[in-house]
Amino acid sequence: MPNQIKYQELHKEYPRYFWQTGKDETFTEDMKLFTLQSRNSTYALAVLEDGFICHVYYGKKIEDNDLSYLLRLDENPWTLKTNERDKGTFMDTLPFEYPCHGTGDYREPCLMINDRDGMSSCEIKYVSHRIYAGKPAIEGMPATFAGEGEASTLELLCKDEPSGLEVTLVYTVFHELDVIARSVRLKNASPDDINIKRVLSACVDFDTDKFDLITLNGSWARERVMERSRLHHGKQGIDSVRGESSHQNNPFFALVSNNTGEDTGEAYGFNFVYSGNFFAQAEVTQHKKTRAVMGINHFDFNWLLEPSETFSAPEVIMVYSSEGIGNMSRTFHDLYRNHLIRGEYKNKRRPVLINNWEATYFSFDTDKLISIARQASKLGIEMLVMDDGWFGRRDSDNSSLGDWFVYEKKIKGGLKYLVNEVNKLGMKFGIWFEPEMVSPDSELFREHPEWAIQIKGRYMSQSRGQYVLDYSNKEVRDHIYGMMKKILDSANIEYIKWDMNRQLTEAGSSSLPKNRQRELWHRYVLGVYDVMERLTSDYPHILLENCSGGGARFDPAMLYYSPQIWCSDDTDAIERLKIQHGTSICYPVSAMGAHVSDCPNHTVGRTTSFKTRGHVAMAGTFGYELDVTKIPEADRNSIPVQIEEFNEFNHLSREGDQYRIGNVFEDNMWDAWMFVSKDKSEALFTFVQVLGRPNYRSRRIKLKGLNEKTLYKNTESGEIHSGSALMNGGINISLHGDFSSKIIHFTAERF
Ligand code: GLA
Repeated sequence: MPNQIKYQELHKEYPRYFWQTGKDETFTEDMKLFTLQSRNSTYALAVLEDGFICHVYYGKKIEDNDLSYLLRLDENPWTLKTNERDKGTFMDTLPFEYPCHGTGDYREPCLMINDRDGMSSCEIKYVSHRIYAGKPAIEGMPATFAGEGEASTLELLCKDEPSGLEVTLVYTVFHELDVIARSVRLKNASPDDINIKRVLSACVDFDTDKFDLITLNGSWARERVMERSRLHHGKQGIDSVRGESSHQNNPFFALVSNNTGEDTGEAYGFNFVYSGNFFAQAEVTQHKKTRAVMGINHFDFNWLLEPSETFSAPEVIMVYSSEGIGNMSRTFHDLYRNHLIRGEYKNKRRPVLINNWEATYFSFDTDKLISIARQASKLGIEMLVMDDGWFGRRDSDNSSLGDWFVYEKKIKGGLKYLVNEVNKLGMKFGIWFEPEMVSPDSELFREHPEWAIQIKGRYMSQSRGQYVLDYSNKEVRDHIYGMMKKILDSANIEYIKWDMNRQLTEAGSSSLPKNRQRELWHRYVLGVYDVMERLTSDYPHILLENCSGGGARFDPAMLYYSPQIWCSDDTDAIERLKIQHGTSICYPVSAMGAHVSDCPNHTVGRTTSFKTRGHVAMAGTFGYELDVTKIPEADRNSIPVQIEEFNEFNHLSREGDQYRIGNVFEDNMWDAWMFVSKDKSEALFTFVQVLGRPNYRSRRIKLKGLNEKTLYKNTESGEIHSGSALMNGGINISLHGDFSSKIIHFTAERF
């Protein structure tokens, strides 16, 4: 048994004043206690003798053998044995690991069914458990993974005896990272159908309500804006009912102590490895405790589980930090970079690309693209990405989605010719697809109108002039993937931007029976995963970048397929400060698609310096999205310098630790951050002055993440100071003008 998960069978005798008889009595209790240890955190749960599984502790590491005493801190009756006549009190106060609906726990449940008799109550009890080294995969679903010796897993098999539903709660503890991954499997072990009305993936019943809730919210072009508010009685949460994780709410929240800051205090982060409708909530209960839950949204959800069928719920990643929000973020970053992102580009510098979207929109042809590539190649740009408009008869967003064949009028000479010409310039070639969509004006829709998601007899709502394809239908997926394959096999394509530009309406499928229609939301997401899995295994050399009207599907599940995701259609450097700060709360910089674009910025009309645009994009994957043949010469001439800087420092942002110094959500005058190598021998500091002010020509900024005793050299000025001076005294930053920026590189002198 791996020692990170400890199992104990306890037999305890307790004194107890029994209020019903007025006597002091003793009673005995048997309990199974499971303790999960990561490097700095402990998670403990127990199975009571009546089979209920309850939460004992989650927080800073405790080395004690036995934490079961925590269950008795107050006078609550923890076993039914002593309180049979008032099961409601027992159920409504027990800290549950996986609460069920309908038997006395009135807080938010994780599980609700509709059984053979149409009844919705259920109650799971422990049956057996398994502890093993490693981490299991989740069938058909993205999930984090662990190498040998990196993680241990506890599986608790439970059952709702009357309905025959088996529930397996899965907990994986990563030994070196303060991470616990949780998921749930259901099996219908009865001879009758069971309808699953709700199956969330994780619940933590905290013993306090002294939390602030942090969420990442927004809209198109304003994704993942961080919000923090104090928890109060009742339910506070976020969700998506749009069919994707959404611009509006990211499937992430953190509960942090009221005094937690960037570098101090406790933080519990929850992130859902899923790309569809989700539900995440913190509930402050009558006794001022907090129940946190996360999982697939039960709204408009139903899943028919026939006898012996199974259902897997996606995983929730839980991160604990006792050193503030920054440390929580770094744990998420390390987990995702090493245990979620896969493929050839996992640890590799990504090619510097130029994308033609903001350069040309739909008005381009082979000659235009080659002219951009010719100029770009001279400046050191390594890849041309041909965005929307190369297929079908696509001259605007009014047609052709679904017709994944080359538009010869624009791509004169064919795709192979274009790609070869770009390759001859020494550049790679990338291409845009929107595989989940169909335009009403397309050959595909004319041939297969039934392949679009729709409800017979109802108006089919368009959004951006398009419909969503029914990815729950394998025939649809096979057809679309077949078309994509033909394109990919026809030329040397080395990058794909997979876009998804609308959300679902009239959620009905012509391929699902009536009693499975409500499964469409989830089956759609599983269908997307299926095609992405086929694509990434058939074309392992291709770099996949996800996108959804900017960053509407920036979630960990997508990172399993694509090592990078387009952050936002808003490419303005100042807007990006908030977007990238918010995104970095749980996602690594190596995954954030960020480009230098033209000015005035197409989304907000702001003009910033080319330098500042470069510095902000360097806190992401880095690339260009402009017509390099048309921009001012001075800007064009600075591209080789920017690329040199990117190449010199990219290893720090890609593999190092990120320290946020400024917080544009609290002070929108400036922002600053650092990337520090894991061995602390090198660091890159970036400062952006949002607005210049007469009194603020010079600011003293304290650095972070260095070694106190090490001497660091500012490679530009040659000045040498100790880590202690740089972190406690700080450095003076003097910038003139709005939207100006500066980077400083530090190397360790004596190490
Ligand atoms: C979305 C993407 C953009 C671009 C367009 C093309 O909006 O976010 O980057 O690819 O689609 O239509």
